[in-house]
Order: sequence, then structure tokens, then C-alpha cells
Amino acid sequence: MTMHATTADDIPVVGSRDASPAHDRADDTLDQARLMDHAYDGIREYDNPLPGWWNLIFAATFVVAFLYFAYYNIAGWGKTPAEKYQIALAGWQAGYRGGPGGGGPSVTEEMLAAGVQNPDVVARGAEVFTSRCIGCHAADGRGQIGPNLTDLYQIHGTTRLDLYGTILGGAPGTAMIAWGEVMKPAEIIAVATYVSSLRGKNLPGKEPQGKSVPALAP
Ligand code: HEC
Repeated sequence: MTMHATTADDIPVVGSRDASPAHDRADDTLDQARLMDHAYDGIREYDNPLPGWWNLIFAATFVVAFLYFAYYNIAGWGKTPAEKYQIALAGWQAGYRGGPGGGGPSVTEEMLAAGVQNPDVVARGAEVFTSRCIGCHAADGRGQIGPNLTDLYQIHGTTRLDLYGTILGGAPGTAMIAWGEVMKPAEIIAVATYVSSLRGKNLPGKEPQGKSVPALAP
């Protein structure tokens, strides 16, 4: 094995503007004046300065970063996404709790009563009931851990809207959570409609709880 003597012509130059694969290396004239002193693993390089436009953009990022920081964090003129979210959430909650039965402004007793006449809404409500509620109220609503939803007794209020309000906001201190925090408004409306359609079916199940209430108008 013979050691190969390294000459300046053998050393590849990184960053040479002339470099191209098709280039005949014999024609390569190394510009010794532009070569930098160091060699890494035998590789020499020219000192090619970064273009002016690049430096300008780099400097501009510092200016923008400072203005951004000043705008959002020092002066407090701008709202961060987290702050915007908090404001939007507070507004939504104010409207949500402000409506009848503690629910959305558009939910009314008439709307729930009309929903009972709509098989699509009742079917959707039954679906939701099966996936979320039967663990405590049993598959047909006759009650288990939770009260019997088919008898003419109600713990919270008397109307359909009261059922809706209980489902939406829950019964604090009991296993009945606020489903408004878990489900979409349309699902709550559908399941409340379905539950109100159960009342009066009087299935034998959990003992009566709450006060006696009149049957709901069909
Ligand atoms: C983890 C058990 C549990 C689950 C799941 C549950 N509930 Fe309840 N629910 C209860 C309990 C317990 C009560 C009684 C609360 C009380 O004593 O104030 C109740 C009360 C209610 C009431 C009020 C009844 C009344 O007499 O005023 C309605 C309506 C109701 N639940 C509907 C639902 C619906 C709809 C779902 C599914 C989206 C559901 N519940 C899921 C346990 C549960």
C-alpha cells in the first residue's frame, strides 16, 4: 500500500463557485488568496460571505421578534391565542347558561314537545341514551343507580325543560354529571326529547323519587 502525497490540487474545495460535476478538474484554478487557512479532513474552503439580502432578512427577524414581544407581552395590546380562547369561552358560557332551563337561548318547552313528534329526533336521542345513560338509568329508563325516568315522579322540576336542564347541568353532588360539558348541544336536545318521551310509561323499576308530576301532553 502506498501513501498518497496530498497536493493542493488534490484537495476538494467546498463552496467553490466553479464547482460542477462536468467541470474538468485539470482546468480548476484554485484561488489561493480566497482559500481559508484551515483544512478539515483535508477539505479546504473559500470564505464566501452570506449574501446581503440574507443578512437583511436575518436582522429583520430580530426587529420583528422585538416588536412582537413588545406588542403582546409588554404593552399587552395584542391578545395571545390562549387569551382569545378564554374570552370566547366566557362569552359562550354566559350565553349558554343564560337561556331557559339554564340551557341554550333557543331551547324551549315547545321545541322539546315538538321533538317528541319527530321520529328522527327521538331515534337520535335513543342512540345517545343507549351509549351514555343506560349504565345508571337502565336500557329502557326504568332506573338503577339513577332514578326511574318512566314514572310520574321527578326530583328536579316538572317540565321537559327541567329534564333538559338536569341533563345539561347535572345534579351536583350526585352521579349525574353535567352532560353539557361532554356532549354537543344537539345531542343534549335529542336525548332530553327522548327522556321526556319516556315519562308516563310507568315501567316497574326503581322506586319513585321526588315529587309526583302530571303526565306530559303528548
Ligand atoms: C353515573 C350514573 C348516571 C349516568 C351515566 C346518568 N345519570 Fe342521570 N341521574 C343519575 C342520578 C344518580 C340521578 C339523580 C340525581 C339526584 O338525586 O338529584 C340522575 C338524574 C337524572 C335526571 C333527573 C331525573 C329527575 O327525577 O329529576 C335525568 C333527566 C337524567 N338523570 C337523565 C340522564 C341522561 C339523559 C343521561 C345520559 C346522557 C344520564 N342521566 C346519565 C345518574 C346517572
